[in-house]
Amino acid sequence: MDRLFVTGGARLEGSVRVSGAKNSALKLMAASLLAPGTSVVRNVPRIRDCAVMGEMLEYFGMRVRLKDGVAELDASEVHDVEAPDELVRQMRASIVVLGPLLARCGRARVSMPGGDEIGARPVDLHVGGLERMGVAIRSEHGFLVAEADELHGASITLDYPSVTATENLMMAAVRAKGITTIDNAAREPETADLAAYLVAMGARIEGAGSSTIAIEGVDELVPAEHTAVADRIEAGTWAAAAVATQGDVTVQNARPEHLELFLSKLADAGADISMSDAGLRIRQVSRAHAVDFVTLPYPGIATDFQPILLAMQATAEGTAIVTENVFEGRFLYTGELRRMGADIRTEGHHAVIRGVPRLSAAPVRALDIRAGAALVIAGLVADGVTEISDIEHLDRGYEDFDTKLERLGAEVWRERELVTLP
Ligand code: EPZ
Repeated sequence: MDRLFVTGGARLEGSVRVSGAKNSALKLMAASLLAPGTSVVRNVPRIRDCAVMGEMLEYFGMRVRLKDGVAELDASEVHDVEAPDELVRQMRASIVVLGPLLARCGRARVSMPGGDEIGARPVDLHVGGLERMGVAIRSEHGFLVAEADELHGASITLDYPSVTATENLMMAAVRAKGITTIDNAAREPETADLAAYLVAMGARIEGAGSSTIAIEGVDELVPAEHTAVADRIEAGTWAAAAVATQGDVTVQNARPEHLELFLSKLADAGADISMSDAGLRIRQVSRAHAVDFVTLPYPGIATDFQPILLAMQATAEGTAIVTENVFEGRFLYTGELRRMGADIRTEGHHAVIRGVPRLSAAPVRALDIRAGAALVIAGLVADGVTEISDIEHLDRGYEDFDTKLERLGAEVWRERELVTLP
C-alpha cells in the first residue's frame, strides 16, 4: 500500500510527454486474441491495468511479452476461455475479452464485473447486443457464460453509446456471418483506434468514430502491428494541473483534436493555449475563473475529466456548476476534497463548487484513478503537505506519474506502507 505526499505551492513548469492511452491499449491487447500468431502493439503504457490484461491473456494460453511499452502477443494457442474472478475484480475492463473470445472460440466464461466507486456499471448492453448476434448468455455462479455455435450479423441500436459495449460487439462482429450495424455507437477516439487495429488485422469496418458502425464479418484475421493513440485523459490531467497551479506546461504527444471542448473550457477559465511542434502549451498567469461544464459521451467532455476539472475549480474565482451525466456515483470523491477545505455541494447529478483562495493539506484517500489525480491537483494548491493513501489507483491509470510531476517542478514523494499479516 503506497502513500503519495504532495507539497503545495509549486507552479508547474516545463514539458511532459503523454503516454499511450490505457483505454485503447487494453482493448488492443484483448483484440489480439482474434488472430492466430503474434501481433505487436506499441505505445502501451507501463501501468498496472495493462499488466493485469497481460496476465489475463496468458490465462487463456497466449504468450505475452510486455517490455518498454511494446506488447508482443502470441495468440497461436487459445485454450482456456475463463476469465478468473481475481483478475476481473482488479480491472473492470476485462469484460472486453468477451467479444474476441466468442469470435475466436465460440464460447467465453467471464467473471461478472461488479460495480465500483463511480457507479453500478451494468453490462446489459453487452449482453443484449451479443444475444442479437446469436450468442446464448446466462449468468452462473458469478460468471457470464456465453456460447455461440455461429455468430451472425445483426442490427443493434444501443440505448446508450457505451464504450466497451461498442468495442465488445465490434470484436465479436468481425468474425460473424454477414453484416452487423451498431447504431448509437460510442465515438470515443479509443474505440476508433481499436477499429483501425482490427482493420489492420483484415477486418471490414466502416463508420468507426461515428455513431453508426458497420462491420462485415470475415472468415479469418491475421496478426498485425499497431501503435496505441496518445492518452487524452492524461493530457487533460497535465493541462488542468497547469491551470490550477498558474503554471506553464507543454504537453508533448497530445492530440488537441481529441480535446477540443475540454481545452475550450480551460480557455474560458483564463488559460492561454497554443500548439507548436514542441507540443500543446498551457499557460495560466492568474487565478482561474470558475467554468460550468457537463459530462457527456465523446465528443462531449469525458466523465474521466470530471474529477480533474472539478479539483481545478476548487481554488478558482467564482462558482461553477458541474453536471455528471455518465456515471451516477461519480461525486463520491468530493468528500476528500472537502476535507481539504473545498466548498463543494452535491445533489444527485449536480455539484456546485464555490472557489476558495487556498486549500489546506489533509490526509485523503484515492477512490479511483481519476479521483486520485484530482487529489494530487488539490495537493499542489494546498497549504502544507497532502498525504494521499490508496495511491495504487493512480498507478493503474497513469505511467510514471510522480516522476513526471517532479520534472514539472513539484515536490512529491512516496512511502510504502508495510502491512502486518496476522
Ligand atoms: C469506459 O468505461 C472507460 N473504461 C471509462 O474509463 C470511462 O469512464 C467510460 O468508458 C466512459 O467514457 C475503459 O475504456 C476501460 P460505458 P465503460 O459503458 O465502457 C452505462 C477510467 O478512469 N451502461 O461507456 O465501462 C454505464 O452504467 C475509466 O479510465 C449500461 O447501462 O463505460 C454508464 O452509466 C473509468 N449498460 C454509461 O453506460 C451497459 O451494458 C457509460 O458506461 C454498459 C454501460
